[in-house]
Amino acid sequence: MSSKNKSSPWRVEWDESLSLGVPEIDADHQRFIRLVNELNQAIVDRLGMEEIEKRMHAILKVATSDFAHEAAMFKQCGYPGASEHSQKHAQMGRAMNEIQERLERGCTEYELIEAGLAVKEMLIDHLLNEDRKFLDWYRSTNPV
Ligand SMILES: [Fe+2]
Ligand SMILES: [Fe+2]
Repeated sequence: MSSKNKSSPWRVEWDESLSLGVPEIDADHQRFIRLVNELNQAIVDRLGMEEIEKRMHAILKVATSDFAHEAAMFKQCGYPGASEHSQKHAQMGRAMNEIQERLERGCTEYELIEAGLAVKEMLIDHLLNEDRKFLDWYRSTNPV
């Protein structure tokens, strides 16, 4: 995958260009990419609502812990873009809560798939653009 792609490819592959070299955060991002692919697969294979919902919840969970790890790291290394980045995490958190509430109220399979794709799109876009900005800054201030 080219991490410069603006649009999200259907299947995402982890590659070293996405690595921050920070094991905790890389592990979140790797887990997240694997879960996104598993969600796609569940949709493609029509595994049913229960399975799609289960996989979506797993993504939301790993995203929440990723946001917390990043916030801690921004603080630790004095990232100047921290507040802007954290606002984007908060925005996504709100969007994910809304989606989750909608699912809990009950929805059709079509709505569930649409919600799953929206979550995927939003999180991958964030990873490729916002997390990338942090990565570039981090690498420029911490040359290997
Ligand atoms: Fe992230
Ligand atoms: Fe982030």
